[in-house]
Amino acid sequence: MKKISVHLKERSYDILVGSGLLDQAGKILRRLHIGDCAYIVTNARLRNSHGAILATSLARRRLKAVWMQVPDTEKSKSFAQAARITNDITRRCRLQRVFIIAFGGGVVGDLAGFVAAVYRRGSPFVQIPTTLLAQVDSSIGGKTAVDLTSGKNLAGVFHQPKLVISDVQLLATLDRRQVIAGLAEVVKYAVIADGVLFRFLEKNYKRILAKDPAALEFIVSRSAAIKAKIVSKDERELKFIRTTLNFGHTFGHAIEAALGYRGYNHGEAVALGMLLAVDISVRLGLVSGTIAKRVEALIAALGLPVRIRGVPLSKILKAQSHDKKFTGKKNRFVLLDGLGSTIIREGIPLGLLRQVLAARLAQS
Ligand SMILES: NC(=O)c1ccc[n+]([C@@H]2O[C@H](COP(=O)([O-])OP(=O)(O)OC[C@H]3O[C@@H](n4cnc5c(N)ncnc54)[C@H](O)[C@@H]3O)[C@@H](O)[C@H]2O)c1
Ligand SMILES: [Zn+2]
Repeated sequence: MKKISVHLKERSYDILVGSGLLDQAGKILRRLHIGDCAYIVTNARLRNSHGAILATSLARRRLKAVWMQVPDTEKSKSFAQAARITNDITRRCRLQRVFIIAFGGGVVGDLAGFVAAVYRRGSPFVQIPTTLLAQVDSSIGGKTAVDLTSGKNLAGVFHQPKLVISDVQLLATLDRRQVIAGLAEVVKYAVIADGVLFRFLEKNYKRILAKDPAALEFIVSRSAAIKAKIVSKDERELKFIRTTLNFGHTFGHAIEAALGYRGYNHGEAVALGMLLAVDISVRLGLVSGTIAKRVEALIAALGLPVRIRGVPLSKILKAQSHDKKFTGKKNRFVLLDGLGSTIIREGIPLGLLRQVLAARLAQS
Protein backbone atom coordinates (compact mmCIF):
# COMPACT_ATOMS: atom_id res chain seq x y z
CA MET A 1 0.00 0.00 0.00
CA LYS A 2 1.14 3.54 -0.75
CA LYS A 3 0.32 6.53 1.41
CA ILE A 4 0.33 9.99 -0.12
CA SER A 5 -0.33 13.15 1.87
CA VAL A 6 -2.12 16.30 0.86
CA HIS A 7 -0.62 19.09 2.95
CA LEU A 8 -3.20 21.72 3.78
CA LYS A 9 -2.56 22.59 7.43
CA GLU A 10 -5.60 21.59 9.51
CA ARG A 11 -7.28 20.27 6.36
CA SER A 12 -4.44 17.84 5.54
CA TYR A 13 -5.29 14.26 4.69
CA ASP A 14 -3.91 11.01 3.32
CA ILE A 15 -4.61 9.12 0.14
CA LEU A 16 -4.19 5.36 0.52
CA VAL A 17 -3.62 3.40 -2.67
CA GLY A 18 -3.50 -0.38 -2.71
CA SER A 19 -5.09 -3.62 -3.76
CA GLY A 20 -7.77 -5.04 -1.45
CA LEU A 21 -8.05 -1.96 0.77
CA LEU A 22 -11.87 -1.97 0.81
CA ASP A 23 -11.81 -4.97 3.08
CA GLN A 24 -9.81 -2.93 5.61
CA ALA A 25 -12.01 0.17 5.40
CA GLY A 26 -13.60 -0.44 8.82
CA LYS A 27 -10.25 -0.65 10.58
CA ILE A 28 -8.86 2.36 8.74
CA LEU A 29 -11.95 4.50 9.42
CA ARG A 30 -12.14 3.54 13.09
CA ARG A 31 -8.60 4.84 13.52
CA LEU A 32 -9.58 8.15 11.96
CA HIS A 33 -12.01 8.96 14.84
CA ILE A 34 -14.43 10.90 12.68
CA GLY A 35 -17.65 9.22 13.80
CA ASP A 36 -19.54 5.99 14.43
CA CYS A 37 -22.13 6.21 11.71
CA ALA A 38 -21.08 5.95 8.06
CA TYR A 39 -23.61 7.49 5.70
CA ILE A 40 -22.67 5.92 2.37
CA VAL A 41 -23.68 7.58 -0.90
CA THR A 42 -23.45 5.19 -3.84
CA ASN A 43 -25.44 3.74 -6.74
CA ALA A 44 -27.10 0.35 -7.21
CA ARG A 45 -24.35 -1.00 -9.43
CA LEU A 46 -21.59 -0.30 -6.91
CA ARG A 47 -23.62 -1.47 -3.96
CA ASN A 48 -24.38 -4.77 -5.71
CA SER A 49 -20.86 -5.40 -6.94
CA HIS A 50 -18.71 -4.26 -4.01
CA GLY A 51 -21.08 -3.06 -1.25
CA ALA A 52 -20.99 -6.30 0.74
CA ILE A 53 -17.23 -6.04 1.29
CA LEU A 54 -17.58 -2.50 2.62
CA ALA A 55 -20.60 -3.42 4.78
CA THR A 56 -18.77 -6.38 6.36
CA SER A 57 -15.64 -4.38 6.96
CA LEU A 58 -17.56 -1.60 8.73
CA ALA A 59 -19.62 -4.06 10.78
CA ARG A 60 -16.46 -5.81 11.98
CA ARG A 61 -15.42 -2.53 13.63
CA ARG A 62 -18.94 -1.76 14.87
CA LEU A 63 -19.40 1.18 12.54
CA LYS A 64 -23.06 1.67 11.65
CA ALA A 65 -23.69 1.81 7.89
CA VAL A 66 -26.56 3.82 6.42
CA TRP A 67 -26.88 3.40 2.65
CA MET A 68 -28.15 5.96 0.16
CA GLN A 69 -28.41 5.10 -3.54
CA VAL A 70 -28.63 7.64 -6.30
CA PRO A 71 -29.42 6.96 -9.98
CA ASP A 72 -26.39 6.05 -12.05
CA THR A 73 -26.23 9.17 -14.20
CA GLU A 74 -24.59 12.58 -14.32
CA LYS A 75 -28.11 13.95 -13.69
CA SER A 76 -27.71 12.87 -10.06
CA LYS A 77 -25.35 15.81 -9.58
CA SER A 78 -28.29 18.13 -8.87
CA PHE A 79 -29.57 20.39 -6.14
CA ALA A 80 -32.62 18.15 -5.95
CA GLN A 81 -30.54 15.06 -5.14
CA ALA A 82 -28.38 17.04 -2.72
CA ALA A 83 -31.51 18.22 -0.87
CA ARG A 84 -32.98 14.71 -0.81
CA ILE A 85 -29.79 13.28 0.65
CA THR A 86 -29.30 16.05 3.22
CA ASN A 87 -32.87 15.58 4.47
CA ASP A 88 -32.36 11.84 4.58
CA ILE A 89 -29.26 12.18 6.76
CA THR A 90 -31.13 14.28 9.28
CA ARG A 91 -33.91 11.67 9.39
CA ARG A 92 -31.79 8.53 9.60
CA CYS A 93 -28.69 9.69 11.45
CA ARG A 94 -30.02 12.24 13.94
CA LEU A 95 -28.15 12.20 17.25
CA GLN A 96 -25.29 10.19 15.78
CA ARG A 97 -21.71 11.12 15.03
CA VAL A 98 -22.05 10.81 11.29
CA PHE A 99 -19.47 10.93 8.54
CA ILE A 100 -20.24 10.73 4.85
CA ILE A 101 -18.64 8.25 2.47
CA ALA A 102 -18.66 8.70 -1.30
CA PHE A 103 -18.54 5.16 -2.69
CA GLY A 104 -18.51 5.48 -6.47
CA GLY A 105 -17.11 7.40 -9.40
CA GLY A 106 -16.80 11.13 -9.87
CA VAL A 107 -20.57 11.68 -9.98
CA VAL A 108 -21.10 10.17 -6.54
CA GLY A 109 -17.93 11.85 -5.25
CA ASP A 110 -18.90 15.35 -6.35
CA LEU A 111 -22.47 14.98 -5.06
CA ALA A 112 -21.62 13.37 -1.71
CA GLY A 113 -18.84 15.92 -1.20
CA PHE A 114 -21.27 18.75 -1.85
CA VAL A 115 -23.69 17.32 0.72
CA ALA A 116 -20.86 16.86 3.24
CA ALA A 117 -19.84 20.48 2.70
CA VAL A 118 -23.29 21.85 3.49
CA TYR A 119 -24.65 19.37 6.02
CA ARG A 120 -24.25 21.16 9.39
CA ARG A 121 -21.93 23.65 7.61
CA GLY A 122 -19.40 20.93 6.91
CA SER A 123 -19.22 17.28 7.97
CA PRO A 124 -16.42 14.74 7.85
CA PHE A 125 -16.17 13.18 4.44
CA VAL A 126 -14.30 10.17 3.05
CA GLN A 127 -13.79 9.29 -0.58
CA ILE A 128 -13.73 5.65 -1.69
CA PRO A 129 -13.38 6.20 -5.44
CA THR A 130 -14.32 3.31 -7.70
CA THR A 131 -13.43 4.53 -11.21
CA LEU A 132 -9.90 5.16 -12.46
CA LEU A 133 -10.85 8.79 -13.13
CA ALA A 134 -12.09 9.22 -9.58
CA GLN A 135 -9.00 7.53 -8.11
CA VAL A 136 -6.52 9.69 -9.99
CA ASP A 137 -8.47 12.91 -10.20
CA SER A 138 -11.91 13.74 -8.78
CA SER A 139 -11.47 12.26 -5.28
CA ILE A 140 -8.43 14.47 -4.62
CA GLY A 141 -8.44 18.21 -4.11
CA GLY A 142 -11.76 19.01 -2.48
CA LYS A 143 -13.71 20.32 -5.46
CA THR A 144 -17.34 19.37 -4.97
CA ALA A 145 -20.22 20.37 -7.20
CA VAL A 146 -23.67 19.88 -8.61
CA ASP A 147 -24.67 20.78 -12.16
CA LEU A 148 -27.08 23.53 -13.17
CA THR A 149 -29.24 23.58 -16.29
CA SER A 150 -26.93 26.34 -17.52
CA GLY A 151 -23.81 24.20 -17.20
CA LYS A 152 -21.84 21.47 -15.48
CA ASN A 153 -20.29 21.97 -12.04
CA LEU A 154 -21.58 25.54 -11.78
CA ALA A 155 -22.64 25.28 -8.13
CA GLY A 156 -20.01 23.98 -5.79
CA VAL A 157 -17.73 24.48 -2.83
CA PHE A 158 -14.31 23.37 -1.72
CA HIS A 159 -14.57 20.71 0.97
CA GLN A 160 -11.57 18.48 1.49
CA PRO A 161 -12.07 14.86 2.46
CA LYS A 162 -10.58 13.45 5.68
CA LEU A 163 -9.22 10.48 3.75
CA VAL A 164 -9.18 8.91 0.30
CA ILE A 165 -9.11 5.11 0.03
CA SER A 166 -8.26 3.99 -3.50
CA ASP A 167 -8.56 0.24 -3.91
CA VAL A 168 -7.38 -0.71 -7.40
CA GLN A 169 -9.15 -4.08 -7.08
CA LEU A 170 -12.44 -2.21 -7.50
CA LEU A 171 -11.41 -1.41 -11.06
CA ALA A 172 -11.74 -5.12 -11.97
CA THR A 173 -15.43 -4.56 -12.74
CA LEU A 174 -14.98 -1.23 -14.55
CA ASP A 175 -15.60 -1.44 -18.27
CA ARG A 176 -12.74 -0.92 -20.71
CA ARG A 177 -13.93 2.41 -22.09
CA GLN A 178 -14.11 3.86 -18.57
CA VAL A 179 -10.62 2.57 -17.77
CA ILE A 180 -9.27 4.14 -20.95
CA ALA A 181 -11.04 7.43 -20.18
CA GLY A 182 -9.29 7.51 -16.79
CA LEU A 183 -5.98 6.76 -18.49
CA ALA A 184 -6.25 10.06 -20.35
CA GLU A 185 -5.88 11.88 -17.01
CA VAL A 186 -2.95 9.62 -16.12
CA VAL A 187 -1.27 10.57 -19.41
CA LYS A 188 -1.94 14.20 -18.50
CA TYR A 189 -0.03 13.88 -15.21
CA ALA A 190 2.82 12.10 -16.96
CA VAL A 191 3.10 14.70 -19.70
CA ILE A 192 2.89 17.74 -17.42
CA ALA A 193 4.93 16.52 -14.49
CA ASP A 194 6.41 13.04 -14.52
CA GLY A 195 8.82 11.60 -17.08
CA VAL A 196 9.13 8.36 -15.06
CA LEU A 197 5.37 7.82 -15.23
CA PHE A 198 5.45 8.63 -18.96
CA ARG A 199 8.08 5.97 -19.66
CA PHE A 200 6.22 3.48 -17.44
CA LEU A 201 3.07 4.04 -19.51
CA GLU A 202 5.02 3.62 -22.76
CA LYS A 203 6.48 0.33 -21.56
CA ASN A 204 3.55 -1.13 -19.65
CA TYR A 205 0.39 -0.04 -21.45
CA LYS A 206 -0.62 -3.64 -22.16
CA ARG A 207 -0.33 -4.64 -18.50
CA ILE A 208 -2.36 -1.58 -17.54
CA LEU A 209 -5.11 -2.33 -20.06
CA ALA A 210 -5.16 -5.90 -18.70
CA LYS A 211 -5.73 -4.35 -15.23
CA ASP A 212 -2.61 -5.84 -13.67
CA PRO A 213 -2.99 -4.75 -9.99
CA ALA A 214 0.68 -3.82 -9.51
CA ALA A 215 0.69 -1.70 -12.66
CA LEU A 216 -2.58 -0.02 -11.63
CA GLU A 217 -1.24 0.66 -8.15
CA PHE A 218 1.82 2.29 -9.67
CA ILE A 219 -0.07 4.61 -12.02
CA VAL A 220 -2.77 5.52 -9.49
CA SER A 221 -0.29 6.32 -6.72
CA ARG A 222 2.01 8.25 -9.02
CA SER A 223 -0.92 10.28 -10.41
CA ALA A 224 -2.38 10.88 -6.96
CA ALA A 225 1.02 12.11 -5.75
CA ILE A 226 1.19 14.69 -8.52
CA LYS A 227 -2.33 15.97 -7.90
CA ALA A 228 -1.67 15.99 -4.13
CA LYS A 229 1.45 18.08 -4.61
CA ILE A 230 -0.26 20.56 -6.89
CA VAL A 231 -3.30 20.91 -4.60
CA SER A 232 -1.04 21.32 -1.58
CA LYS A 233 0.60 24.32 -3.27
CA ASP A 234 -2.53 25.91 -4.74
CA GLU A 235 -5.70 24.58 -3.09
CA ARG A 236 -8.05 27.15 -4.61
CA GLU A 237 -6.42 27.64 -7.99
CA LEU A 238 -5.23 31.14 -7.21
CA LYS A 239 -1.56 30.85 -8.21
CA PHE A 240 -1.64 29.36 -11.72
CA ILE A 241 -0.28 26.10 -10.26
CA ARG A 242 -3.54 24.12 -10.12
CA THR A 243 -4.23 25.65 -13.55
CA THR A 244 -1.64 23.28 -15.07
CA LEU A 245 -4.12 20.45 -14.43
CA ASN A 246 -6.20 22.01 -17.20
CA PHE A 247 -3.67 20.74 -19.74
CA GLY A 248 -5.71 19.33 -22.64
CA HIS A 249 -8.93 20.61 -21.13
CA THR A 250 -9.38 23.89 -23.06
CA PHE A 251 -10.01 22.11 -26.34
CA GLY A 252 -11.14 18.97 -24.49
CA HIS A 253 -14.10 20.80 -22.97
CA ALA A 254 -14.80 22.55 -26.29
CA ILE A 255 -14.94 19.20 -28.14
CA GLU A 256 -17.25 17.70 -25.49
CA ALA A 257 -19.50 20.76 -25.61
CA ALA A 258 -19.50 20.94 -29.42
CA LEU A 259 -20.84 17.38 -29.47
CA GLY A 260 -23.47 18.18 -26.83
CA TYR A 261 -21.74 15.77 -24.40
CA ARG A 262 -22.99 12.87 -26.51
CA GLY A 263 -19.92 11.97 -28.56
CA TYR A 264 -16.54 11.54 -26.99
CA ASN A 265 -16.47 10.95 -23.25
CA HIS A 266 -14.40 13.31 -21.09
CA GLY A 267 -11.18 11.28 -21.26
CA GLU A 268 -11.36 10.86 -25.02
CA ALA A 269 -11.98 14.57 -25.52
CA VAL A 270 -9.10 15.40 -23.17
CA ALA A 271 -6.81 13.08 -25.15
CA LEU A 272 -7.59 15.10 -28.28
CA GLY A 273 -7.23 18.33 -26.31
CA MET A 274 -3.78 17.25 -25.09
CA LEU A 275 -2.67 16.46 -28.63
CA LEU A 276 -3.89 19.87 -29.79
CA ALA A 277 -2.02 21.57 -26.92
CA VAL A 278 1.13 19.69 -27.89
CA ASP A 279 0.59 20.64 -31.56
CA ILE A 280 0.35 24.32 -30.55
CA SER A 281 3.49 23.93 -28.44
CA VAL A 282 5.36 22.47 -31.43
CA ARG A 283 4.21 25.27 -33.75
CA LEU A 284 5.32 27.86 -31.21
CA GLY A 285 8.74 26.19 -31.07
CA LEU A 286 8.35 25.30 -27.39
CA VAL A 287 8.82 21.57 -27.77
CA SER A 288 10.24 19.18 -30.36
CA GLY A 289 8.31 17.11 -32.88
CA THR A 290 9.88 13.99 -31.34
CA ILE A 291 8.10 14.61 -28.04
CA ALA A 292 4.85 15.25 -29.89
CA LYS A 293 5.23 11.91 -31.70
CA ARG A 294 5.82 10.07 -28.40
CA VAL A 295 2.73 11.62 -26.82
CA GLU A 296 0.63 10.70 -29.85
CA ALA A 297 2.00 7.14 -29.94
CA LEU A 298 1.19 6.64 -26.25
CA ILE A 299 -2.33 8.03 -26.58
CA ALA A 300 -2.97 5.75 -29.56
CA ALA A 301 -1.50 2.70 -27.78
CA LEU A 302 -3.91 3.24 -24.89
CA GLY A 303 -6.87 3.15 -27.27
CA LEU A 304 -7.64 6.86 -27.07
CA PRO A 305 -8.46 8.85 -30.21
CA VAL A 306 -5.80 10.85 -32.04
CA ARG A 307 -8.06 12.24 -34.80
CA ILE A 308 -11.18 14.36 -34.31
CA ARG A 309 -14.30 12.80 -35.86
CA GLY A 310 -17.91 13.81 -36.15
CA VAL A 311 -17.63 17.49 -35.29
CA PRO A 312 -16.73 20.41 -37.55
CA LEU A 313 -13.86 22.72 -36.76
CA SER A 314 -16.18 25.75 -36.59
CA LYS A 315 -18.27 24.19 -33.83
CA ILE A 316 -15.21 23.45 -31.71
CA LEU A 317 -13.92 27.00 -32.12
CA LYS A 318 -17.33 28.38 -31.25
CA ALA A 319 -17.53 26.27 -28.09
CA GLN A 320 -13.99 27.33 -27.20
CA SER A 321 -14.80 31.01 -27.62
CA HIS A 322 -17.87 30.64 -25.37
CA ASP A 323 -15.53 29.35 -22.74
CA LYS A 324 -13.36 32.42 -23.33
CA LYS A 325 -16.36 34.72 -22.95
CA PHE A 326 -17.33 32.94 -19.79
CA THR A 327 -14.01 33.80 -18.15
CA GLY A 328 -14.13 37.26 -19.72
CA LYS A 329 -10.48 37.01 -20.73
CA LYS A 330 -8.25 36.12 -23.65
CA ASN A 331 -7.97 32.43 -24.50
CA ARG A 332 -5.59 30.60 -22.21
CA PHE A 333 -3.75 27.37 -22.88
CA VAL A 334 -1.53 25.19 -20.76
CA LEU A 335 1.29 24.26 -23.16
CA LEU A 336 4.42 22.15 -22.93
CA ASP A 337 7.96 23.43 -22.96
CA GLY A 338 9.39 19.97 -22.41
CA LEU A 339 8.20 16.55 -21.34
CA GLY A 340 7.14 17.05 -17.72
CA SER A 341 7.19 20.83 -17.92
CA THR A 342 4.34 23.26 -18.65
CA ILE A 343 3.96 26.90 -19.56
CA ILE A 344 0.75 28.94 -19.59
CA ARG A 345 0.15 31.15 -22.66
CA GLU A 346 -2.69 33.55 -23.32
CA GLY A 347 -4.00 35.04 -26.54
CA ILE A 348 -2.99 32.28 -28.95
CA PRO A 349 -3.92 33.59 -32.44
CA LEU A 350 -7.10 32.20 -33.95
CA GLY A 351 -5.23 31.34 -37.15
CA LEU A 352 -2.94 28.99 -35.26
CA LEU A 353 -5.85 27.34 -33.47
CA ARG A 354 -7.53 26.78 -36.84
CA GLN A 355 -4.36 25.23 -38.29
CA VAL A 356 -3.85 22.70 -35.50
CA LEU A 357 -7.55 21.78 -35.46
CA ALA A 358 -7.64 21.33 -39.23
CA ALA A 359 -4.57 19.09 -39.09
CA ARG A 360 -6.22 16.88 -36.43
CA LEU A 361 -9.54 16.38 -38.22
CA ALA A 362 -10.08 12.87 -39.54
CA GLN A 363 -10.07 12.77 -43.35
CA SER A 364 -12.96 10.35 -43.80
N1 LIG B 1 -14.18 17.12 -8.31
C1 LIG B 1 -13.25 17.07 -9.24
O1 LIG B 1 -12.13 17.55 -9.04
C2 LIG B 1 -13.55 16.38 -10.54
C3 LIG B 1 -12.52 16.11 -11.45
C4 LIG B 1 -12.83 15.41 -12.62
C5 LIG B 1 -14.14 15.00 -12.87
N2 LIG B 1 -15.13 15.28 -11.97
C6 LIG B 1 -16.51 14.83 -12.20
O2 LIG B 1 -16.52 13.41 -12.20
C7 LIG B 1 -17.62 12.95 -12.95
C8 LIG B 1 -17.15 11.82 -13.84
O3 LIG B 1 -16.68 10.79 -13.02
P1 LIG B 1 -16.49 9.30 -13.57
O4 LIG B 1 -15.78 9.33 -14.85
O5 LIG B 1 -15.94 8.51 -12.44
O6 LIG B 1 -17.98 8.87 -13.93
P2 LIG B 1 -19.16 8.16 -13.13
O7 LIG B 1 -19.12 8.49 -11.70
O8 LIG B 1 -20.40 8.46 -13.88
O9 LIG B 1 -18.80 6.62 -13.32
C9 LIG B 1 -18.79 6.08 -14.61
C10 LIG B 1 -19.59 4.78 -14.68
O10 LIG B 1 -18.84 3.74 -14.07
C11 LIG B 1 -19.65 3.04 -13.15
N3 LIG B 1 -18.74 2.52 -12.13
C12 LIG B 1 -18.12 3.20 -11.16
N4 LIG B 1 -17.27 2.41 -10.51
C13 LIG B 1 -17.37 1.19 -11.07
C14 LIG B 1 -16.74 -0.06 -10.83
N5 LIG B 1 -15.79 -0.19 -9.91
N6 LIG B 1 -17.10 -1.11 -11.58
C15 LIG B 1 -18.05 -0.98 -12.54
N7 LIG B 1 -18.67 0.17 -12.83
C16 LIG B 1 -18.33 1.24 -12.09
C17 LIG B 1 -20.62 4.07 -12.66
O11 LIG B 1 -21.76 3.46 -12.08
C18 LIG B 1 -20.91 4.83 -13.95
O12 LIG B 1 -21.88 4.16 -14.70
C19 LIG B 1 -18.16 14.16 -13.72
O13 LIG B 1 -19.35 14.58 -13.12
C20 LIG B 1 -17.08 15.21 -13.53
O14 LIG B 1 -17.59 16.53 -13.55
C21 LIG B 1 -14.85 15.95 -10.82
ZN1 LIG C 1 -10.39 16.01 -16.77
